[in-house]
Amino acid sequence: MKMILLGPPGVGKGTQAQILSREYRIPQISTGDILRSAIQAGSELGKRANQYMSKGELVPDEIMLGLIRERLFGDNPPEGYILDGFPRTLVQAEALNQLFAENKTRLDIVLLLDADEELILKRLSSRRVCRKCKAVYNLLTQPPAVDGICDKCGGPLYQRDDDKIETIQNRLAVYRRQTEPLINFYKSINLLKTVDSSGNPREVHQNIMKQLGGN
Ligand code: AP5
Repeated sequence: MKMILLGPPGVGKGTQAQILSREYRIPQISTGDILRSAIQAGSELGKRANQYMSKGELVPDEIMLGLIRERLFGDNPPEGYILDGFPRTLVQAEALNQLFAENKTRLDIVLLLDADEELILKRLSSRRVCRKCKAVYNLLTQPPAVDGICDKCGGPLYQRDDDKIETIQNRLAVYRRQTEPLINFYKSINLLKTVDSSGNPREVHQNIMKQLGGN
């Protein structure tokens, strides 16, 4: 199964990708996580990416395409995967289609996770992440047992730089401008299914399974 999770920042792509990854035993490929690891490692890629990410802007297409080409079609290409955060521009989506065609494979489904902006703002501004194991919490809906400490590994929790309110607003504007056109792109090739993502994670997962079952 090769699927894309599409949707605005904070709608729950990462949360659902993790559940699906366990269920289908295929990797979650999150371009945001790959870039954040590069930033943490202080690599050249990380330094370049941080200039854009800290402002809520997209990292340039050529960087992202190089990265995804290597991950999906380099040595030991995975048979199935969940793309979380890629593609995000029409250039990326068209290039991905081209890569699929060149490698004689195809995408199975694109799931658009949908929720209103007020809810998204709440989810993002209350997200906390473990610095050590990267587990994701939410102060409103999924708080840790002990304030500021990861339940799983005891690491410290922090707020992502791009989860500050001004940056969230810009990420949403960037999403509307650069990523929303992908909805029509994938509709036009009959791959898009929309999932109501306003419920709790379990309900959203059930909505996803309905779409996958009907596929
Ligand atoms: P990325 O890390 O991909 O960020 P994003 O798309 O903005 O998505 P988020 O990680 O913010 O949210 P999510 O939808 O995964 O939600 P989550 O499950 O965490 O990208 C970051 C940056 O990297 C970009 O801005 C860009 O600069 C760069 N980048 C990455 N990919 C790129 C690309 N392809 N091209 C160019 N640049 C790229 O949930 C959010 C919160 O809500 C959590 O606290 C969670 O616990 C909670 N939650 C989740 N689901 C529910 C629910 N159902 N009910 C209640 N709470 C919930």
